[in-house]
Amino acid sequence: MTGLRPERAVDAGAIAAVLNAAFANGGEPGAEAALVDQLRRDGDLDLSLVAVNDDGGIVGHVALSPLAAPFPALALAPVAVEPRHQGRGIGSALVRAALAARPGHTVVVLGEPRFYSRFGFRPVGWDCPYAGPFLQATGPHVPDHARIAYAPAFSALG
Ligand SMILES: CC(C)(COP(=O)(O)OP(=O)(O)OC[C@H]1O[C@@H](n2cnc3c(N)ncnc32)[C@H](O)[C@@H]1OP(=O)(O)O)[C@@H](O)C(=O)NCCC(=O)NCCS
Repeated sequence: MTGLRPERAVDAGAIAAVLNAAFANGGEPGAEAALVDQLRRDGDLDLSLVAVNDDGGIVGHVALSPLAAPFPALALAPVAVEPRHQGRGIGSALVRAALAARPGHTVVVLGEPRFYSRFGFRPVGWDCPYAGPFLQATGPHVPDHARIAYAPAFSALG
């Protein structure tokens, strides 16, 4: 990997390809790529970072989108690394870069605590459609109770 950078307009297809490959074994085919495309169309991609390989190819992606919450908050979703490039620190670099880019915001993620706890995420019992053991948050405001709402594009995910 040569580095991380914000997405450019020409990257949309390559980002979708990374998402489709990374999520090929889980969920509805194409759902994560459709989510990112819809967030982009809605103006809800607060941050979209790509990881770029030595040859200029895009091998990873992370997105932040706005959350309605009683404090400044963003959703980190999805994060994906092209399967042949997994296990080399790219996913961790993407998550860390997203958190570093928005230090004033609490960031919420839905995912495997074994992966996300290393970045400071801890489970939160907040009220939202994804409530459960995989809902985690990190940042300046992590109260015991809160109601949060994801950007409209997430409603299509089911
Ligand atoms: C999750 C993902 C982004 C991690 O990217 P990566 O570049 O492989 O991650 P890194 O190399 O930085 O870190 C690898 C570590 O994450 C762990 N890890 C990866 N996926 C994991 C998972 N689903 N559950 C638990 N741990 C996981 C690995 O075991 C490894 O742990 P170690 O450091 O203790 O050996 C990548 O595996 C991926 O794209 N997965 C498919 C899509 C997905 O599930 N995205 C997350 C939900 S939005």
